[in-house]
Amino acid sequence: MDNRLTWMNTMNNILIISGHPDLEHSTANGRIIERVQTAFPQTVVRRLDTLYPDGTIDAAAEQAALAQADVIVWQFPFYWYSAPALMRSWLEGVLTYGFAYGSSGDKLHGRKLIVSLTAGGSAEGYSKGGYEGFDIEDYFPQFVSTAHLCGMDYQAPVYSYNMAYLPGISSEADLAAIRSRADEHAAQLIERIREALAS
Ligand SMILES: Cc1cc2nc3c(=O)[nH]c(=O)nc-3n(C[C@H](O)[C@H](O)[C@H](O)COP(=O)(O)O)c2cc1C
Repeated sequence: MDNRLTWMNTMNNILIISGHPDLEHSTANGRIIERVQTAFPQTVVRRLDTLYPDGTIDAAAEQAALAQADVIVWQFPFYWYSAPALMRSWLEGVLTYGFAYGSSGDKLHGRKLIVSLTAGGSAEGYSKGGYEGFDIEDYFPQFVSTAHLCGMDYQAPVYSYNMAYLPGISSEADLAAIRSRADEHAAQLIERIREALAS
């Protein structure tokens, strides 16, 4: 690794908010997070499923973690065309008036935000003529507006299709293909983080 990258990696804080409700049994999200941690060992991961098994978010602890972060990744599986309920509880509990928005709510200003999600649907499905009826990014304005209201610097999102592993239904070959797509997703996310750190 060249010296410049070593310096950047130690001077920039990366925070992953993991919104998966059961990361232990995840195929894609857990693998993606591990890959990012290997690439950037200083990454802090807030696993909402283990931190908050009853779903009650500690807003002060989350805000303290955010205060240290230069690059923030919201990592989650796409559930019902949005973020899982646990991730939404985090958004509602943590991005509060006076912290994230409002006249004195400037704590997230300038932080780089990367939305990184895995979807079960296919690229063909997520198109105007496909069975979902919309491109996947058509579901993203909620994240763009949230970032905008909080003064965060919204980065190009990272997402991947065909990521649903169904035990008892998916084959070993399906599992290998999902893992490989998760690795591709992780590589893209690592690149996106690197760009965010450098900009
Ligand atoms: C409750 C639930 C809702 C889901 N909703 C969607 C959806 O709206 N669109 C989609 O493409 N996939 C959907 N999926 C599939 C998940 O996105 C997919 O299983 C997940 O990204 C795989 O990641 P993991 O291996 O880390 O769990 C859903 C899955 C579950 C369990």
